Amino acid sequence: MSASVLVTYATRYGATQEVAEVVAATLREHGLAVDLQPMRKVRSLEGYRAVVLGAPLYIGRWQKDARDFLSQRREDLAQRQVIVFTLGPIRPDEKEWEDVRGQFDQQLAKYPWLKPVAVELFGGRYDPTKLRFPDSLLAALPASPLHGALASDVRDWTAIRAWANDLVAQLQSA
Ligand SMILES: Cc1cc2nc3c(=O)[nH]c(=O)nc-3n(C[C@H](O)[C@H](O)[C@H](O)COP(=O)(O)O)c2cc1C
Repeated sequence: MSASVLVTYATRYGATQEVAEVVAATLREHGLAVDLQPMRKVRSLEGYRAVVLGAPLYIGRWQKDARDFLSQRREDLAQRQVIVFTLGPIRPDEKEWEDVRGQFDQQLAKYPWLKPVAVELFGGRYDPTKLRFPDSLLAALPASPLHGALASDVRDWTAIRAWANDLVAQLQSA
């Protein structure tokens, strides 16, 4: 059986990829045929009736692969059931989550033709020792919100699996 759901992700340090892997595995456990691919490797959306997009936020915007994917695949995505998840907050801090929800909403508003049937925000992972240039420089600037931030991983795997489970009924009816 050919895959009917594509889970595709953008990532810089792998955190979103790991979430996408768990989402794809959870959907497969329910018998859905699922492909998993990084956005930059997707050649065609033919054969997929639904697409789950995952992307992290960087300086208030989706990582570039996601922005490129959305711009280039507009017509294909507009004809399919689309689900979007975003990674961002790196602390369990309500104010930070509120701000990041605003960033997420702003990104969605840039693509008014995109009508996701579900959207979700998850916590992210941050490790200052693994940053590459220019992120390392940015994080070191005293004015940066990342300045002095400690390594963290606030991805809630229980919530991620529960969310993916909840998607199943929607995807099966697509
Ligand atoms: C340089 C830099 C800038 C970031 N900017 C934001 C941001 O504006 N908003 C946000 O919610 N998270 C921000 N983050 C946190 C990332 O979204 C988070 O670490 C995410 O898990 C990264 O996912 P990835 O490993 O898949 O790239 C930033 C992280 C870095 C390193």
